[in-house]
Amino acid sequence: MAGDETKPEDETKPEDAAAGSGRKLDRRDVLLGLSTVPALALFGYAWQKQRSYEQRQRQAAEVARPAAPPDLEPIDVALIGAGAQGQVLLDAMLRIPGLRFRAVCDIWTDFNLRRAVNTLKKYKFEVTGYEDYRQLLDQERDLDAVVIATPDFWHAPHTVESLKAGKHVYCEKEMSNTLEGARSMVLAQRQTGKLLQIGHQRRSNPRYLHCYHKLLGEAKLLVRIVTVNGQWNRAVAPDLGAPDRYAIPQATLKQYGFKDMHQFRNWRWYKGLGGGPIVDLGSHQIDIYNWFLGAPPSGVMASGGLLYHDPKTHEWHDTVMVVYDYNTPAGPAKAYYQTQTTNGSQGYYESFMGDQGTLIISESELNYAGQLYRDPNAPAWDEWIQKDYVSAPKEQEAKERTKSDAVADVRESVAPDQHTVPVSLSDPYHQPHLQNFFDAIRGKAVLNCPAEIGYESAVSVLKVNEAIDAKCLLPFKADEFKI
Ligand SMILES: NC(=O)c1ccc[n+]([C@@H]2O[C@H](COP(=O)([O-])OP(=O)(O)OC[C@H]3O[C@@H](n4cnc5c(N)ncnc54)[C@H](O)[C@@H]3O)[C@@H](O)[C@H]2O)c1
Repeated sequence: MAGDETKPEDETKPEDAAAGSGRKLDRRDVLLGLSTVPALALFGYAWQKQRSYEQRQRQAAEVARPAAPPDLEPIDVALIGAGAQGQVLLDAMLRIPGLRFRAVCDIWTDFNLRRAVNTLKKYKFEVTGYEDYRQLLDQERDLDAVVIATPDFWHAPHTVESLKAGKHVYCEKEMSNTLEGARSMVLAQRQTGKLLQIGHQRRSNPRYLHCYHKLLGEAKLLVRIVTVNGQWNRAVAPDLGAPDRYAIPQATLKQYGFKDMHQFRNWRWYKGLGGGPIVDLGSHQIDIYNWFLGAPPSGVMASGGLLYHDPKTHEWHDTVMVVYDYNTPAGPAKAYYQTQTTNGSQGYYESFMGDQGTLIISESELNYAGQLYRDPNAPAWDEWIQKDYVSAPKEQEAKERTKSDAVADVRESVAPDQHTVPVSLSDPYHQPHLQNFFDAIRGKAVLNCPAEIGYESAVSVLKVNEAIDAKCLLPFKADEFKI
């Protein structure tokens, strides 16, 4: 098995060369990314804090590689797209035994490609770097699997070609920025019979699995879920930049569908390349709505706009509020979702409210990791506490009179008991989902997010931008989710 158990030395991270980290923000960064004068001071502190948090997370992920059991047949893997998320996936995969990295492809050859290849070489993998994915697929005939973390508009061609070349594929969410693209991926998966896992990693997160199977499934703690609420509040950040000396030649940018370096680095905000925050962030959580409610939505209405960012450099809505209708197997439900880009308070979570309890869950291990509230009228949860499905309750203290002598209305409901979900994830967030993919290749697991599930989520999410333009309730037809 290639690879050793040492941790590579720290190295220059390409994203660190972007605005807001290793070097001081210069005038160009400000012009590129900040449209208001006081923004530099506003961003400086928050950005540094975010960067140091990310660095700590990355260091925590870079642990020694686990040794593979001698009888474990190695899986030959290539990575296409070695940017921020490619690096996160690589860090997680380096912790999974039995993988043999053979190739990396990235069009930013002097920067992200070089970094990823150097990282893997430090772990003693013999990897070849490619700029063009077709060349990679043509030359790396023995590959078993390809992991794709390129911008959304490249997912369909990269996935379809890799499947047709006989590789199993793990492709990041959002499956595609268009329905046609997502559809072509499902069809290619069916035609080739290869595995296609879509990167909705919460589907393999042990806390989400515990809630789905045990709390909602077996114990039925919430009983009848009627409303859902979720959000991803993200703090504003400067646009991503790149040092001039690492600029990709204009002809190469054009060849791969980018207008210039600013668009290349900030593709999420551009129509035709990404889908804006609602697709980028909302896709994770709306996927959970569908999963936990046991049905795709039946209708959607939404409002959104570019309320904060400069329309010259941001085409998609930075603020979106959505209401979905569901016809779940248990009855009708409504689900609200918001994503906004001002500050990150209250973080990101999904909240499911039933007539006997509420579940608040997040992928974040720091906030809202898993909280449950039992309605005072619901039957006791003693059995589930004894089975360790939920923690013992933290009694809610009765509200005392405040100094202002405010008196609670006699009709106010008694506050429910608070429990927690006793399951946490100590591995990097993406590791279980990648592990599920590689286990499925070995025939030891079934994919947690196969192509059809990814497609259902893509239909649900991509329609939001359409609903914003339509300014009315858009119904989903049942056959929209089928191919
Ligand atoms: N699952 C998650 O939690 C999660 C988190 C972040 C991002 N993502 C997804 O990962 C993907 C990548 O996002 P990111 O933040 O890393 O973006 P990024 O811009 O940091 O990285 C994209 C990389 O792809 C490369 N690239 C672009 N076009 C290419 C092409 N045609 N061939 C080869 N390489 C190409 C770029 O050079 C860059 O290195 C997106 O689909 C995003 O939605 C998922």
